[in-house]
Amino acid sequence: MKIYVTEDYKAMSRKAANIVSAQVILKPNSVLGLATGSTPEGMYAQLVDWYRKGDLDFAAVKSVNLDEYVGLEPTHEQSYRYFMQHHLFDHVNINPANTNVPDGLAADPAGECTWYNQVIRNMGGIDLQVLGLGGNGHIGFNEPGNAFELETHVVDLKEETIEANSRFFASRDDVPRQAMTMGIKSIMMAKKILLMASGEAKAEALKLAFTGPVTPQVPASILQLHPYVTLVADKAAMSKLEGLL
Ligand code: F6R
Repeated sequence: MKIYVTEDYKAMSRKAANIVSAQVILKPNSVLGLATGSTPEGMYAQLVDWYRKGDLDFAAVKSVNLDEYVGLEPTHEQSYRYFMQHHLFDHVNINPANTNVPDGLAADPAGECTWYNQVIRNMGGIDLQVLGLGGNGHIGFNEPGNAFELETHVVDLKEETIEANSRFFASRDDVPRQAMTMGIKSIMMAKKILLMASGEAKAEALKLAFTGPVTPQVPASILQLHPYVTLVADKAAMSKLEGLL
């Protein structure tokens, strides 16, 4: 595993954007696995900036997002489709037809998940998967549990995730209770993984993920078994790992 420790969130964002840019420059038709949430926002802003300066070209890029809430329409401000449009897709020359996010309004969410697995396969798999980290160790919406769920599936969100995400909604009651998420196998099949973490709230999860046992109780711990992980984290997120990695 390659580890970059940065001073702060801004430097983490820039380093992560460097890694995504390198991927797109070296392989213009890359399949990017993308994440939402507050962690990658700064990275997307940096990528948009470099695109505007003419340093990046997304014309041949394809993307597949990790997850989406069940029940939110794509235009809902808290849907992950909306997030991606707002932070990246609307500002760069990616072909909208090449962007994939599970459909939150799918009448049959389980069927949507099966279809999504096929979408990923048809694209030939993911070249670089960007991941954020939940404070409870989740990746995508793969919550702590008794088994690693393999491919894209419907998940009941944990109370702590509903709580953590309620900051984005008018009230806690407005947070959807279910999501569709790529599974651990979908994530582990990516050729490369870029895990980002910022802030003290992620320090314990990072420590458990990389110094503890590989267990579905800490979903991110599976990344110990992936051959090509790059961790980009700021000092605060790394604070409990000093001297351990
Ligand atoms: C987002 C996702 C989640 C987040 C995680 C961290 O697509 O799959 O796993 O990466 O919940 O969220 P933030 O970045 O908001 O702390």
